Amino acid sequence: MEQHDQEDDVWIVVAGKVYDCTRYLPDHPGGADSITINAGTDTTEEFEAIHSKKAWKQLEPWYIGDVAVRGNSLGQSEVERSGLGGLGLRSML
Ligand code: HEM
Repeated sequence: MEQHDQEDDVWIVVAGKVYDCTRYLPDHPGGADSITINAGTDTTEEFEAIHSKKAWKQLEPWYIGDVAVRGNSLGQSEVERSGLGGLGLRSML
């Protein structure tokens, strides 16, 4: 997950779900930077604090999978590939 923090590959985690925001950056009312500084991380708290219901709806198209916890160690999570993640998704775009 932490690898997806480049400007052309921006993933965030909100409430246990992974979203690829790369193509949403130019449309974000809060600016691209507010997303890119949180890229590769779990931004649930910030997202909940800032956004309206409308924003939650706008997340949906960018959903690419769920976070799977590896082992028992919290914080060491790995994206459970939904078959659409990573290169697979980008090569389709
Ligand atoms: C795909 C992911 C995201 C979507 C779809 C999204 C959507 C939106 C929308 C629709 C607004 C307008 C206000 C509202 O309706 O709530 C907004 C504002 C904002 N967003 Fe996001 N957002 C995303 C990710 C993030 C992230 C990760 C952050 C930082 C933690 C962030 C920070 C902000 C800020 C600071 C504003 C306020 C802008 C202002 O009122 O001046 N957003 N976002």
